[in-house]
Amino acid sequence: MKVAVACDHGGFILKEIVLETVRNAGHETMDLGTDSSDPVDYPDFAEKVGRAIQNGEVERGILICGSGVGAAIAANKMRGIHAGVCHDTYSAHQSVEHDDANVLALGARIIGSELAVELVRAFLKARFSGEDRHVRRVAKISDLERRESGWEVP
Ligand code: RB5
Repeated sequence: MKVAVACDHGGFILKEIVLETVRNAGHETMDLGTDSSDPVDYPDFAEKVGRAIQNGEVERGILICGSGVGAAIAANKMRGIHAGVCHDTYSAHQSVEHDDANVLALGARIIGSELAVELVRAFLKARFSGEDRHVRRVAKISDLERRESGWEVP
């Protein structure tokens, strides 16, 4: 599959390792930056990955920031994007199998490179189970997303 990878300055140190891990697992990569440790804003990079998925250019994305949290929050504002911060291998594959996650968010200030490699491999190997209860729950997420789309912050 094709996988978009992006980071902010907090995630820059992990990005090359993540890209290499994706390639070594037999997948194609799309590197959406950032390309240095100069400060940038993680929502901009979350948006790039989300758009690449929405446009069908890639099937999945990996976002890296300092904690993984900001990037995941931003990505989850986008329609059809299911992002999870996963710093354990169970969550990295279960997020796909149960929750149909299409984005893995990593915190480069929290985890080391070896764990990041295992998380990326687990995420990429996983497939949505398609079991009824998970299809029903994911459909409820999509419904929530639709119902929220007209809502404005007071
Ligand atoms: C950047 O300093 C940091 O706030 C960002 O990388 C991330 O951790 C946000 O969740």
